[in-house]
Amino acid sequence: MLLPYSLPALLVGVVCSGAAPVVSSESAAPGGYAWQWGGAHQDAGYWFDEFQDTLATMQSSTFWNGTYWPATIQWIGAFLDTLVAASERSLTNALEEYDGNGPGAHTSAASIHSEIQQYFSDVEAYYGDEDVIQIFGAAYDDAQWVVLEWLEAIKFINQYDIYAESSLGQADIARFAHRAHIFYNIVQEKFDTSLCGGGITWNPALAPYKNAITNELFISSSVGMYLYYPGDSDTNPYPSPAYVNATNLTLPALPVLAAHDPLLLANAVNGYRWFKTHNFTNAQGLVVDGFHISDNQTTCDERDEMVYTYNQGVLLSGLRQLWEATGDTSYLTDAHGYVETAINATGWYAHSPEQAVQWAGLGRNGIMEDYCDAPANCSQDNQVFKGIYFHHLDLLCEDLPRSTPLIAGLTNLASAPLAAEHAGKCASYVPWIEHNANAALSTRNGTGIIGGWWGASYINKTQAPWLAYAVPKPHGSADVWNEPWVLDEAPWVCEGWHCEKDGRGSRGTNGKRMAKLFQHRRAAERDVNDGGRGRTVETEASGLGVIKAASDFALRRAR
Ligand SMILES: *[C@@H]1O[C@H](CO)[C@@H](O)[C@H](O)[C@H]1NC(C)=O
Ligand SMILES: *[C@@H]1O[C@H](CO)[C@@H](O)[C@H](O)[C@H]1NC(C)=O
Ligand SMILES: *[C@@H]1O[C@H](CO)[C@@H](O)[C@H](O)[C@H]1NC(C)=O
Ligand SMILES: *[C@@H]1O[C@H](CO)[C@@H](O)[C@H](O)[C@H]1NC(C)=O
Ligand SMILES: *[C@@H]1O[C@H](CO)[C@@H](O)[C@H](O)[C@H]1NC(C)=O
Ligand SMILES: *[C@@H]1O[C@H](CO)[C@@H](O)[C@H](O)[C@H]1NC(C)=O
Ligand SMILES: *[C@@H]1O[C@H](CO)[C@@H](O)[C@H](O)[C@H]1NC(C)=O
Ligand SMILES: *[C@@H]1O[C@H](CO)[C@@H](O)[C@H](O)[C@H]1NC(C)=O
Ligand SMILES: *[C@@H]1O[C@H](CO)[C@@H](O)[C@H](O)[C@H]1NC(C)=O
Repeated sequence: MLLPYSLPALLVGVVCSGAAPVVSSESAAPGGYAWQWGGAHQDAGYWFDEFQDTLATMQSSTFWNGTYWPATIQWIGAFLDTLVAASERSLTNALEEYDGNGPGAHTSAASIHSEIQQYFSDVEAYYGDEDVIQIFGAAYDDAQWVVLEWLEAIKFINQYDIYAESSLGQADIARFAHRAHIFYNIVQEKFDTSLCGGGITWNPALAPYKNAITNELFISSSVGMYLYYPGDSDTNPYPSPAYVNATNLTLPALPVLAAHDPLLLANAVNGYRWFKTHNFTNAQGLVVDGFHISDNQTTCDERDEMVYTYNQGVLLSGLRQLWEATGDTSYLTDAHGYVETAINATGWYAHSPEQAVQWAGLGRNGIMEDYCDAPANCSQDNQVFKGIYFHHLDLLCEDLPRSTPLIAGLTNLASAPLAAEHAGKCASYVPWIEHNANAALSTRNGTGIIGGWWGASYINKTQAPWLAYAVPKPHGSADVWNEPWVLDEAPWVCEGWHCEKDGRGSRGTNGKRMAKLFQHRRAAERDVNDGGRGRTVETEASGLGVIKAASDFALRRAR
């Protein structure tokens, strides 16, 4: 049975005085401030147990019906499946690390192997039920979540089978690779220099919007394809045999794409070069949401200042893999810079309780938070963003290879000082990650489901909306993820000369069809449940993201 978790050191001394709650300085934890404390549990066994429980809850019948998470939407389903595949890698890491024993007293190697088999069957089942027709016609970010999903599954299969001398999933590699190929093909040639000097637009059915997420995903999915995609010569372009009947569209043959095609690496390198030269960061260094191109202009001249947690994260895995592929250490330096900025923006470095409780750009009291968390009006999209952040931070901080390159003849090895520097920086994030993981765990309800606002525990609150903690959004921002109806208005609606630019099929009709699909999905979100969705598979997945990271980091540190 799960007992509600509490954060004694954080709650002791909490004074709640109406609209302006403060945390007393008496709440200071051993060795530092309460908002800067990783918590009492630092052993790998403890975090591994919590990680297994959180994963089991996400895959329990509360959320998973055996083939699908029926309550979620397609792109999030792709991310949830990515998390399951990544969790499979974490379970394998534990076996490797403990040489056949589980960390802590609770888990035997045999039971970890059987968990791995069980979750792999979930990944296989989702392959069959994934609504690829819907997501194929969605936006350019959506497609790339699918690429990352199947690459993660392939990475797992390869890692596990070498370790366990097994053939689990070998028969799936070709079809997983084909799906990654089909979805990567959607964006492969969409880096468009005619507007904004480059970048990929978010959604071809809307006015051009070169946003952070689509382009961060392009960096990560391109370099991920370069490293892990095994090649695919199947030229069938349809995401599903039912596609033609469902859409009445016929598609040209899918071009063959070989493993390690240099074009893939070039896409990632160009993608990041463009991102970096177009100032996607605000005065604090946080990545903002994106750029519009105003009427009759061709440059990125209208910036949307909205800040979301996931935009600070997806880049991290891309940069780490860019180092792997090129050996250029500036990618790692940049990645760690983004992490430091995000940690700072949670108030982690505050010097007083009064300062710690203030909004710091992306959280407070050292806990990561999106703008919609405290007022509890996140859309389901936004509810999963923090999980995405911590998943990609986890990928960044995997050890750099020292003696065996990831892929012989293709990837680089780290010198001892570089590997140590990377590991040292990653180790310095551990207290912050554990602080956030503890906060997430403390939001579990009586049946163990994690809530959306991790900071609630810190100020002794439930997951009900807490408007005194709502903060105004940045000046010059539109919150498209939580207020999707803004997409029906300028500057999103496409009226200009560039509206016919279209991803798939012929001009015009296909664009309209895509717009319809997109609006259909958005309209559904206008449901009253948008305000206070409560504990959902998305909040559970955000919890899994941070707790998986806590477990993986603790495992590396235990070495
Ligand atoms: C799970 O839900 C999906 C979507 O609602 C449905 O298509 C599928 O048949 C369900 N699977 C099971 C095993 O009930
Ligand atoms: C497509 O529709 C045709 C005509 O209704 C039908 O015979 C065929 O089985 C369908 N194909 C698929 C893959 O659903
Ligand atoms: C496809 O075309 C047929 C015949 O013209 C039509 O009946 C059907 O509604 C169309 N389906 C879609 C999804 O547009
Ligand atoms: C990027 O924009 C922010 C906000 O306008 C500004 O503070 C910062 O100096 C700019 N950075 C660069 C490198 O131009
Ligand atoms: C945190 O951010 C603030 C505001 O941008 C800056 O002044 C401060 O130097 C940063 N602190 C650290 C430790 O990075
Ligand atoms: C953009 O160009 C069109 C056609 O030349 C013109 O009618 C319109 O006023 C221009 N818009 C702006 C904001 O300059
Ligand atoms: C915990 O939250 C889940 C998801 O909203 C809900 O189904 C469950 O009933 C809740 N448990 C308790 C004890 O409130
Ligand atoms: C805070 O939590 C403690 C322990 O659960 C409880 O006794 C107390 O009533 C709570 N205070 C407020 C203001 O909610
Ligand atoms: C969420 O609630 C806050 C506080 O009331 C408000 O400022 C914000 O606009 C709301 N967001 C949405 C998407 O409704």
